[in-house]
Amino acid sequence: MTYPIRPIGEAEWPAFTRVLEEGFNWTPHPQQAERWKAETEFDRTLAVFDGDLMVGVTAVFSFRMTVPGGQLPVGGVTAVSVLPSHRRRGVLTSMMRRQLADIRERGEPVAALYASESVIYGRYGYGRAASLLWFRVHKHASAFVKNAPVDPSLRIRVAKPADARADLEKVYASVVTARPGRYERSAAFWDSSLGDEEFDQRGSGPLRAVLAEDDRGVRGYALFRVKGSWDEHDLPTGEVQLQELEAADPAAYALLWRSVLDRDLTMSVRAPRPVDDPLISLLADQRQLRAGWSDELWVRLVEVDRALAGRAYSAPVDVVIEVEDEVCPWNAGRWRLTADTTGAECKQVDEEPDLTVPVAALGSAYMGDGQLTQLLDAGLLREHRQGAVRALATAMSWSPKPFAGRVF
Ligand SMILES: CC(C)(COP(=O)(O)OP(=O)(O)OC[C@H]1O[C@@H](n2cnc3c(N)ncnc32)[C@H](O)[C@@H]1OP(=O)(O)O)[C@@H](O)C(=O)NCCC(=O)NCCS
Repeated sequence: MTYPIRPIGEAEWPAFTRVLEEGFNWTPHPQQAERWKAETEFDRTLAVFDGDLMVGVTAVFSFRMTVPGGQLPVGGVTAVSVLPSHRRRGVLTSMMRRQLADIRERGEPVAALYASESVIYGRYGYGRAASLLWFRVHKHASAFVKNAPVDPSLRIRVAKPADARADLEKVYASVVTARPGRYERSAAFWDSSLGDEEFDQRGSGPLRAVLAEDDRGVRGYALFRVKGSWDEHDLPTGEVQLQELEAADPAAYALLWRSVLDRDLTMSVRAPRPVDDPLISLLADQRQLRAGWSDELWVRLVEVDRALAGRAYSAPVDVVIEVEDEVCPWNAGRWRLTADTTGAECKQVDEEPDLTVPVAALGSAYMGDGQLTQLLDAGLLREHRQGAVRALATAMSWSPKPFAGRVF
């Protein structure tokens, strides 16, 4: 059975959020729902109807996202939910198909999302494109190497995040292109990020900021909450819950980490961080770092040729890729990618392929995380010319590793 599907108008917002509340088992505070509404691009929403009842929802943010070597328009998929009464009847599948066609029509060659569960989106051609490490750093095991950068002109300023917003935005704008996966943030997005009502705090106290600055201005910031606690001997066991730490240069970066690690009356810092976070190199005793792995951004090539030609490459490559793509059939076929470190071209061809890949595999490699050889070794790619996968994997790998840094 197929259900009608269409974008919603603002008047239908309450029904839209009802579906999200049921899907996520979470009821936002009315103020949170208002912020959400302010971020929503109504013409990019989709809802599925069973009669008058809204049973499935999703939306897209129009992002400019950093990819290796530049920035591209990217469809940021969000707010995906299906009513429990209508699960496993193909509602999500119909939304995904329609949404990908819409994203293509908008001219966005790539779509990206954060997945609530890692089993959901592979079937729609999304590949795990970035990973994160959940760091736990204990203060007493956090000494830096002796040659860690120090700049005596830098100082720390404590500020209320809302008061420092202009400085936060300035730093973020200066680093947004430094790592694939980062995206430009709208004013409404900053409003939500800096929201600090009691319901935002979830028992972990107010949002706090420290800024690293010199006489010429701000060079970095850290945003965090502190969950205070004490053990039975009256020793502090509090945790700094670091949300973001961004800096324009290594000395500011090191100083900000020292500031959160040395915070009085706390014992540790917990933070989601990129897998190649420079902190790992700064720690003198690296084995003390506790880190748990998870997937972060998922990426889908909506138009294979524009996406592949729209990023930079780390090494020259010339391969014919046979792409399998049942969901976006315009991608299926053979594409010749010719790239070097100065540019790239991708054209549909009729030649014999060097490798055959599901489109999700290209999505997983797109931001530079370099998973193609892993997929080959796992038996999930077919190589017809020996060495073709390694050559493509090397060319697509990128440093620094991708990390979006903030759930959307
Ligand atoms: C995830 C969710 C949107 C799926 O919606 P749905 O309409 O039931 O999905 P579909 O019926 O289109 O499922 C298509 C396929 O994906 C599978 N699938 C979907 N969600 C799955 C899940 N969470 N775990 C495992 N398999 C899942 C289905 O079994 C089905 O497989 P099949 O084609 O082999 O039969 C829905 O379960 C939901 O709202 N979950 C809670 C909110 C959430 O996690 N949203 C995602 C936010 S990123």
